[in-house]
Amino acid sequence: MSNELWHDVGDAAELAQQPLQQLLVGRTKVALSCVDGQFGVINGACNHVGGPLGQGTLEGAFVVCPWHNWKFHRISGEGEPGFEADRVPRFDFKVEAGRLLVRDTPATTRNRLPHDKHPLDRDIRRLSGPLRVVGISTTVMDNAYPRYSTSEALLQSALEHAGAKHALEYRMLKLRDVPFRACKGYYSKSAHACTWPCSISQMDPKDGMHAVYENLVFWADVILVATPIRWGAASSLFYKMAERLNTVQNQITLRNRVMLRDKVVGLIITGGQDNIQAVAGQMMQFFAELGMQFPQFPYIAHSRGWTAEDMERNVEVVRHSGQLHDGARSLLDRCLDLASRLQASAAPAFERAGRKASGLERRAPAATD
Ligand code: FES
Repeated sequence: MSNELWHDVGDAAELAQQPLQQLLVGRTKVALSCVDGQFGVINGACNHVGGPLGQGTLEGAFVVCPWHNWKFHRISGEGEPGFEADRVPRFDFKVEAGRLLVRDTPATTRNRLPHDKHPLDRDIRRLSGPLRVVGISTTVMDNAYPRYSTSEALLQSALEHAGAKHALEYRMLKLRDVPFRACKGYYSKSAHACTWPCSISQMDPKDGMHAVYENLVFWADVILVATPIRWGAASSLFYKMAERLNTVQNQITLRNRVMLRDKVVGLIITGGQDNIQAVAGQMMQFFAELGMQFPQFPYIAHSRGWTAEDMERNVEVVRHSGQLHDGARSLLDRCLDLASRLQASAAPAFERAGRKASGLERRAPAATD
């Protein structure tokens, strides 16, 4: 074998000090491991979406990808037990005169097992038919012993109005009924580690965010989001959902792919104490970043103010306020009005070049930690 085929990657004794590291062999990133003095060299790009295996961890004889934890045998490159055929290439190596030499062409080829396509991994096209409305209630409560939620009651009024007045199909999605996992912060490892469909959805078919993605991205034209005010902010479930929607926003950052087009959002915000404008501002900022549209006067809200600690009275006020429930119905009317106009017109395509020229180029959201 000619020497030109071998790359000198360094002093073998020094390289043996680190259990796992990423190295370059020519222009190829490899994951070099060493356990009990025995080296292993496999290609550094994970089969899933290219995570840097050399920056992962070792679990027994397996390299664990740092992005979403796929595992590959550190010497053979084969996938974890059960997925052996899902293989990354391995490289031959040898130690000569104290130097570690790695052959520049892999000894095996990459083999990607055909994984079933995730149901969310499909063309985003509006289903034909009349406008559709989904309400997302973010309030938290014990379903075994339910209580009256002012934000959810107003949302219910708006949704029933969609059916009764407009004869439209509507759905109520209560986040507490679809338990879902918290975002794992893959984005903080790399923008490319935050995938569509969300990696958590790919790994856990039971994860409840599937319902949110399905309704928000594929089904609904109008999305009404209801939240209580908790400590001057939106509900914790709203933020939990928002973090999991990073996958939608990140598609714009990474691929210029706007997944939510001509979608209109209206907000319902209620609380025993004030901070309505701060909550509305933050929620609007979030939905704007996803590419959603707002009707004129995009939220309704109710609070009896800072000193209103008598929550039972707050509940009674909302329960019996025709004005507030009418307000929720009017919010829906405004959302539908905008949604029907958007559907009637051809929405302009999102053009990166155009946005650059106008100084509106998307920025990546700040890393979370
Ligand atoms: S597990 Fe490696 S990139 Fe997702």
